[in-house]
Amino acid sequence: MKKTMTTEEAIKRWDMHAEVFTAGYTELGDISRRTLLNPTIFSLMDDVNEKNVLDAGCGEGYLSRILAQKGASVTAVDYSEKMLELAKNRTEEDTNIIYNYGNCENLDFLAGNQYDMIVSNMVLQDLEDYQAAFQEMYRLLKPSGSFIFSILHPCFITPNSGWIRNNKVKSSIGR
Ligand SMILES: C[S@@+](CC[C@H](N)C(=O)[O-])C[C@H]1O[C@@H](n2cnc3c(N)ncnc32)[C@H](O)[C@@H]1O
Repeated sequence: MKKTMTTEEAIKRWDMHAEVFTAGYTELGDISRRTLLNPTIFSLMDDVNEKNVLDAGCGEGYLSRILAQKGASVTAVDYSEKMLELAKNRTEEDTNIIYNYGNCENLDFLAGNQYDMIVSNMVLQDLEDYQAAFQEMYRLLKPSGSFIFSILHPCFITPNSGWIRNNKVKSSIGR
C-alpha cells in the first residue's frame, strides 16, 4: 500500500491539533461519540467493574474516565504527548487510570496476557502498521478477553486513501 504519512508526521499532527480536536469534548466525548460511538461501544461491553482494561489510543481520555467510573482499572496509551497532557489535566487525581506514552504497534513495556478488555476508539484506521497493533492486542489480552474497536468508515478519507476521478460521471455539485 502506498505510504503517505510516517508515524513521526502523524504524531506531530496529533500534537499540533490536540487542543482543537478535543475542544468540543464533554465528559462523554464529542457529539459523534455521544450520539453514535458510545452507545455502540457500551452495547458490546460486559460489566467492567474490577476488570483490567486498556484504552489503546486514549486521546484526551474521556473513555478511560468513563471506564474508571464504572470500576475498571484502566491503562491508557497514546503516542501524542499533547493528548496525554490534556488527558491528565482532565482527570481527577484519585482516578484509577495510568496514562502511558506508547505506540499501539509496539507496547512491549506492558506485560502480556493481562487485560480483560481492550478498547480502541477511532484509532486503528490511522496506523502505519495495523497488523502489528492487532498482534499486540492479542498478546496483551487474557485468553477470554475481548477487543472492541471502532474505525472510520472506509468511505471517508484516511492517510492512505485518495480520490479516483471518474470522468464518465457528471458531478452534481459543479466540480
Ligand atoms: C481520533 S483520536 C481518538 C482518541 C480517543 N480514542 C477518543 O475516542 O476520543 C485518535 C488518537 O489515537 C492516537 N493514536 C493514533 N495512532 C496511534 C498509535 N499508533 N499509537 C498510540 N496512539 C495513537 C492519536 O494520538 C489520537 O490521540
